[in-house]
Amino acid sequence: MRKTVVIAACMGVAIGFASGLALSQQDKSTIEEIERYRQALADGNPADLWEMRGEGIWKQKRGPKNASLEKCDLGLGPGVVKGVYTVLPKYFADSDKVEDLESRLVTCMVTLQGLTPAEARKDPFGGPGKKVAMDALVAYITSQSRGMPMKVSGKHPKEREAYDIGRAIFFHRSGPYDFACATCHAVDNQRIRLQDLPNLLTAKDAQRAYTSWPAYRVSQGELRSFQWRLYDCFRQQRFPELEFVSPASIALTMFLAQNANGGVFNAPAIKR
Ligand code: HEC
Repeated sequence: MRKTVVIAACMGVAIGFASGLALSQQDKSTIEEIERYRQALADGNPADLWEMRGEGIWKQKRGPKNASLEKCDLGLGPGVVKGVYTVLPKYFADSDKVEDLESRLVTCMVTLQGLTPAEARKDPFGGPGKKVAMDALVAYITSQSRGMPMKVSGKHPKEREAYDIGRAIFFHRSGPYDFACATCHAVDNQRIRLQDLPNLLTAKDAQRAYTSWPAYRVSQGELRSFQWRLYDCFRQQRFPELEFVSPASIALTMFLAQNANGGVFNAPAIKR
């Protein structure tokens, strides 16, 4: 089933590229319909439930050390949540690594709560009947940056290095279809069926895309993090599975987040 969907999506790309992607009247009205639906739902985004649960988990004493995450330094000092997503990913001297939000939460679960790295990374994404702490924490923390402009730094040499690696991955073609991220995301106004494909190399599209994740996916009934977004695009690209909070995933996030600098963060959002 899944295979068919992916093949259909990829055929969509081939046909789309060949046909020059003229929009029919029907396509246009469907897009408008989806937009109206999005606006109608935005007032009652189920992501609220993840945000509330996440705030509880942030404050809850957990793990072998029976400690909460409230002293975790996510980038603006211990315990600061307000606005912190706008500066991530960033370099952390204590771990000597560039970290995104998810990887930093793993670091704090290990250092503050005493979990092993494997335990802290064990359940990255929720699924049917499965609610995980990570999604809820991500929803809560990102919600505290709503309305603030992205300002990810690229000054530290390791931040520059992460950006360069992320850029190289973006353009790296491989796999059975010889696709790169750039195949689908480096051209203006490209679409697969009804889905607009952002040109992630332009500030406008990168800002709109990046500042709308995490998102509650109506079609999946789940809240999806940015790590999940990248994981799923690796799958669409027929690349090997992207490892949760791997250096590659953080480097790509760094590249896309810097391209989105200046954009006003507006998530957790809601998507089809
Ligand atoms: C085969 C085409 C294809 C390739 C290759 C691809 N993507 Fe995507 N990407 C999509 C589609 C289709 C969507 C929209 C999916 C949806 O709405 O369900 C998307 C959505 C996204 C989004 C979210 C956009 C938004 O506005 O919500 C990001 C970010 C993204 N891709 C990044 C990447 C990165 C990084 C890579 C390389 C690892 C990549 N994509 C490779 C097709 C592709």
